[in-house]
Amino acid sequence: MSRLFIRGGRPLAGEVSIQGAKNSVLPILAATILTAGQVEVRHCPALRDVDAAVRILRALGCDARWEGTSLVVDTSGLNDWAISDILMREMRSSVIFLGAILARCGQARCSMPGGCELGPRPIDLHTAGLRRLGADIREEGGTLLCRAEKLTGRQVVLSLPSVGATENLMLAACGAEGTTVILGAAREPEIEDLALFLNACGARVTGAGSGTVTVEGGRKLHGCAYTVMPDRIAAATYLCCCAGAGGDIFLRGAREQELFAVTDALRRAGCCVTSDSAGIACACAGRRQSVGSVRTAPYPGFPTDAQAVLMAGLLRSRGATVFEETVFENRYRHVDELRRLGADIRVSGRVAVVSGVETLHGAAVECTDLRGGAALCTAALAAEGETCVRALHHIDRGYEDIRRDLAALGADIERKETRLTGQE
Ligand code: EPZ
Repeated sequence: MSRLFIRGGRPLAGEVSIQGAKNSVLPILAATILTAGQVEVRHCPALRDVDAAVRILRALGCDARWEGTSLVVDTSGLNDWAISDILMREMRSSVIFLGAILARCGQARCSMPGGCELGPRPIDLHTAGLRRLGADIREEGGTLLCRAEKLTGRQVVLSLPSVGATENLMLAACGAEGTTVILGAAREPEIEDLALFLNACGARVTGAGSGTVTVEGGRKLHGCAYTVMPDRIAAATYLCCCAGAGGDIFLRGAREQELFAVTDALRRAGCCVTSDSAGIACACAGRRQSVGSVRTAPYPGFPTDAQAVLMAGLLRSRGATVFEETVFENRYRHVDELRRLGADIRVSGRVAVVSGVETLHGAAVECTDLRGGAALCTAALAAEGETCVRALHHIDRGYEDIRRDLAALGADIERKETRLTGQE
């Protein structure tokens, strides 16, 4: 069992380099299936979800190996079009492989994807979009059987801007004959990063980052070397750690243009946030101010992935902040754990009201999901005494090494791996 021991209650000071973005590299790894030749994914974060993607690629017959901080992928040996249930359950992004495999092999088989439990996470928009491009998709006993002798570019309208569905359709559209226009597409920066990668491989994708993404299909894609964008949610996490504990930190490589919703909230809370082409700096002392209300929304709105960490960073603020989670139905599972540290949070449906307290205290807590786990670390840094954080496999899905990063920012933090005993 892995546990983090965090002795909080002291300001942070230091600098850390921001890892490559998990939510960008996962669709990029799926997209390598569309290419002939070698792809070098640079600045690739070494985390559990990337391991899962590598295992999927290898199970399909592809070659994937680490060379320093690059992951080098060669999908020329691909010899299968089915992903096992075990691999599908590892993470939500496994479903993005569907569009790529279908485009390359004309068929694909997989089960429903796993991932963080944030409420119902259907894939109806993915399958409806793929059907619109000509795929025949049947569900039998939890298994999706997809076939498409030929995919044809069409106009696809997404009724809500799903990040995963937009990505899946972009990949399938690369293998379709003719032009696909995705209306109502997600506008997240990771969509733009995927488009930049595809174009570096010879695809023609325009409009990514806007609500209309156009893909001219049928082009042969080649290998390339591509540097993954910095992880804006890891950056948001460390900024919120600073907001909670106070201090003066610098996040090298972080880009504020993708984080305005978060940095705006932190400025309202009283943090001094500045940025330039090298990164983002954050400084604050004393207690934060409440920020009134925070409503999560698709990009460029406040990211749902940063809701938990901002909440944790505001636990000791003066006044009350009202959070409204509009993207996922059940994304307050961290709240009970935060209460163990002394937080005052009331939840009613999709609304959570955080009333700032003067002090937090260390406690034993357990991660409930990836960002909820990061929020526990954020709160622990602001709490007096020692906090023990368990169930780190959630955090390991999305953070390369949160202990290393927080230690670089001056935190008193230790990770211990122990054998499971009856007492644990
Ligand atoms: C991506 O998940 C991210 N994951 C999530 O990050 C992030 O929280 C989410 O986008 C929203 O920003 C990756 O990029 C790997 P969606 P995704 O499809 O693609 C509903 C993290 O912490 N929906 O945009 O699964 C869905 O239920 C993670 O790093 C349908 O109804 O999110 C949700 O309410 C967790 N039908 C909303 O749309 C569908 O077919 C947004 O989901 C698809 C989605």
